[in-house]
Amino acid sequence: MTITVCLGSACHVKGSHYVLEGLQSLIKEHHVEGDVKLAGTFCTGNCQKGVCVTIGDTLYSLTPETTTQFFETEVLAKLH
Ligand code: FES
Repeated sequence: MTITVCLGSACHVKGSHYVLEGLQSLIKEHHVEGDVKLAGTFCTGNCQKGVCVTIGDTLYSLTPETTTQFFETEVLAKLH
């Protein structure tokens, strides 16, 4: 599974940097480095939904505060 985080400027202002760091530490914490990859992308045109995070074709709208919940329900739950 690859999680792609938008690194465009609108998403950056909304905290994409913290979302990315949060995901990095969650991946380590749960020892799923082999199953989950992180990628960055340029602005995908969905700035109003930022911080934009995609898995495959599905777009999620995250904030630094909702990152842990997203990880548990959309990532961990789907790995096992
Ligand atoms: S900056 Fe992230 S969608 Fe535009």
